[in-house]
Parts: sequence; C-alpha cells; structure tokens
Amino acid sequence: MNSEPATLYHVDDLPALDFDPFLRTSLREAPVRRIRLPHGEGECWLVTSYDLVRFVTSDRRFSRDITGRPVPKMTRHAIPLDRAVSFVDPPGHARVRAAVAPAFSSTAMDRLRPRVQELLDAMVGRLLHRQQPADLVRDITSPFPLAVIGLVMGMPESDQAQVREWADTLLSRASDEQAAQRAERVKQDSRAYFLRLALLRRDDPRDDTMTTLVRAMDRGTIDEEELLALATLIGLNGWHAVCNNASNMLYALLTTEGLWDRLCAEPHTVPQAVDELLRWVPHKHGVGQPRIATENVRVGEALVREGEYVYVSYVAANWDERVYPQAGDIDFDREGPRHLAFGNGPHFCVGPLLARMEAEVLLSTLTARLPTLRLSVPRDRIPWQTDILIRGPRTLPVTW
Ligand code: HEM
Repeated sequence: MNSEPATLYHVDDLPALDFDPFLRTSLREAPVRRIRLPHGEGECWLVTSYDLVRFVTSDRRFSRDITGRPVPKMTRHAIPLDRAVSFVDPPGHARVRAAVAPAFSSTAMDRLRPRVQELLDAMVGRLLHRQQPADLVRDITSPFPLAVIGLVMGMPESDQAQVREWADTLLSRASDEQAAQRAERVKQDSRAYFLRLALLRRDDPRDDTMTTLVRAMDRGTIDEEELLALATLIGLNGWHAVCNNASNMLYALLTTEGLWDRLCAEPHTVPQAVDELLRWVPHKHGVGQPRIATENVRVGEALVREGEYVYVSYVAANWDERVYPQAGDIDFDREGPRHLAFGNGPHFCVGPLLARMEAEVLLSTLTARLPTLRLSVPRDRIPWQTDILIRGPRTLPVTW
C-alpha cells in the first residue's frame, strides 16, 4: 500500500461553496491515500472517511508534536505559535486546555448569551437604518463575532480592528514569500499584544478569559508562552472562523430554495438548522494540522508506518455518504451521528459552544427581524475570498 504513488493535492481556490472535487474522489475511491502538498517536504497520508477520521484523531499512537519537523504542508508558514496547544499531546494538552475550559463551558455561555444578543440587536438596529442594498458581511457577520470575542477575551473595542487585520494576514495561504513574512510578523505582533493585555489584566482583573489565563499562569498551571499561543488562537480564530462560517451559513440559507422561509416560519428549528449547516458548510480549504505516527498503525486497509505524517479532512468526513446519505443536501431534519465540524478527540475545538450560540442568536434574530432578507445580486456575482484557509464570501449584498 505504501508503494502507491502520491498524488499532488494542489488545494486550489474553489468557486463559492463548491465541495472540493479532490476530497470527493478521495472519499469515494481512496479514503486513505498518499498525497503530496504544495509546501514542505515529502509525502503524507490523507484520511477522509468519517470512521477513519474519528479513528486517527482519537488514537494516541498519532502525535501532534510536529514542531521543528519538515512536514509536507499547505501553506508556506506555520500558523499557530510554536508553543500552541495544537502541537501538544496529552497529558500536557489537557493541562493547557483546562486553563480556559470554564470560560467556554455551557454555564459560561448561558451567562454570556444575553450580552451577545444585545450586541447583535444594536447592530441589526443600525442595519435597518442603512440604505439598501447593504453588505451583511461588513455590517453583521464580521463585526458581530469580533465584538463577541472582544468581550470574551477582554480586548478593548479600540484594539479589535487590529486583531481582525492580524487574523486576515495570518490565517491565509500566504501565496508568496513576502506574504509568508508578513504572517510571521503578525505572529510576533499579536504575541506582544496579548502579553501587554495579560499584564494589564494582572493589575486590573476583570470577568474575561484573559484574566482567567493570567490567573492560570500565576498559579503555575501554564507558562507565559502557552498563554500567549492560546490567547492568539482564541483571539484570532474566535473572530475569523465564526465570521466566515456565519457568512457561509447565510449564503447557503439565502441561495437554497425554501430554507430561509422555513426558518422564519419555524423559529424553533434554528438549533437543528445550525447543526446541519455546521455539517454541510465546507469550512476550510484543504487540511489543517498533521499528526505523526509514533509506531506502525493500520488505518483501514493502509499501513501507516512509524514517522509518517497523516492529515485528516473533517470537511470530507462530514460529507461521507456512508454516514450522511445525500450529504450535499441541507436537511434540517437529518438524523445521524455527531458531525465533525469542530474536530474530534483531544484537539476538539475550544469554542464550539460559543460558535454555536453565536450562530443561533444570529439566525433567530435575522429571521425574526428581517424575514424578507434576500441577496440583491445573482449568486454568481458574490465575490469570494481567495488564498485563504477558511472559506467565505467577501461581501453579501442584501435587501429586505
Ligand atoms: C464555526 C466556528 C468554528 C469552527 C468550524 C471551528 C473548527 C475547529 C476545528 C476543526 C479545530 C481543529 C481540530 C483539530 O485540530 O483536530 C479547531 C480547533 C480550535 N479552535 Fe475552533 N472552530 C470554530 C470556532 C472557534 C472559536 C469561536 C474559538 C475560540 C474560542 C476557537 C478556538 C479553537 C482553538 C483554540 C483550537 C485548537 C484546539 C486544540 O488544538 O486543542 N474555534 N476548531
């Protein structure tokens, strides 16, 4: 099996939210296959089927500790800071994650929800006074999660535009060397910013995640570099992932016959609609962080040898027809196992409850206050971001 030739996975920009044809073929014909990627060195494995993605992401024989290794990769630059939780294996991983877990628990979300609702209500109020057409990305899906993550992390409003710019630069595919250098500079700038914020919170504690992180550092639970890497991931991803995911959800709802009207008529279906949209939205291009086999492991029919790199695709797993029949259809009444939009295993996303709550507040508010919402241009005139990791429209021109 390991002698099978590796295919180069280019990871091109795809039109709108079209499903990646390479992932589609892999799912059907080779759910565990050898690939090469545009950057880094050598070959690796790509795993796409639902069951095997779950297997690889929860089996301790696959390590995320790949720092300093010349891994095959999609981007020129490494996205997380070196000491990020993304590269740590259990038990160290659980120690770092425990430092922020209470800030993203369901109890914390219940407390936060009314303030999130208030933030959105004010933004929708301003939108309603705007001339039509308006841009839903500029007016809602970008500023809303930015304000929310600002509130959660304790980032003053005046700093938030800077954080958004950093996320855009860092969470890109950095198509040339200059872009890769810009991304590296952003890592240093955001590290310095979160250090200043941490010191501020030590002197002036508040009810926010940065205060929680500083206390964890002062107790000795995490060290300074762990704090900074985690704060950068939360601060930047917390806006970027939700902004694009929410824009994609709205695009799907406004371009698929009957979905928006059903949500308006049956507001109680919002939570299940959010769940199905999380499954359906092909959130990212290509792949995320790889794992390395610490011993020989059989994955399906393939033998992954010690030292080989393995990537999984959660996007592909969520469209595995063996688990989700007619996976390309958005079906609010779909039954089936838990989707993998937030990952699986120890590296499961830190903020799924936050992301879900924001999406629920967003969809229930917009369907209640703008039931006649529609795109003001044909769907093929919507401009999409290019050279990015997480997919999303640049603008969503709408009327109501
Ligand atoms: C719809 C929005 C979001 C989606 C689809 C999403 C998805 C994911 C996925 C797929 C992973 C990687 C799992 C892996 O490496 O195996 C991840 C990790 C992560 N996410 Fe999210 N995420 C979202 C929102 C957020 C938010 C709001 C935050 C901040 C609170 C956040 C913070 C993180 C962090 C810190 C990690 C690294 C976890 C680790 O390696 O232990 N994400 N997310």
